[in-house]
Amino acid sequence: MRTLCRVTDIPDNGAKGFPGLEGTFTGFVAVRQGERVYVYENACPHIGTPLDWTPDRFLSADGRHLICATHGAEFTLDTGLCVSGPCRGDSLTAVEAVVQDGVVVVGG
Ligand code: FES
Repeated sequence: MRTLCRVTDIPDNGAKGFPGLEGTFTGFVAVRQGERVYVYENACPHIGTPLDWTPDRFLSADGRHLICATHGAEFTLDTGLCVSGPCRGDSLTAVEAVVQDGVVVVGG
């Protein structure tokens, strides 16, 4: 288990990137909707590149989807399902995450 951040460290209706667990190359992206937080591996299912083109820029212009900077695939915020782009129908890899006393904790 690893403490990722406080819920309030993630902008509401926004997203923030984090380094991966020790010994891994793949980071995390955490999406916040109010008190709910969804965490995914920051790796596009198309060819595995990070989603953000610059740190913490993960969302589409309308804020309704995560978007991959490489080829523009869009993913739902709450499930990580790709709804448009070359990996349509695939999903981001969800990371088990819980909120405990306002803190986001990931990992089993
Ligand atoms: S690497 Fe994400 S859409 Fe191609």
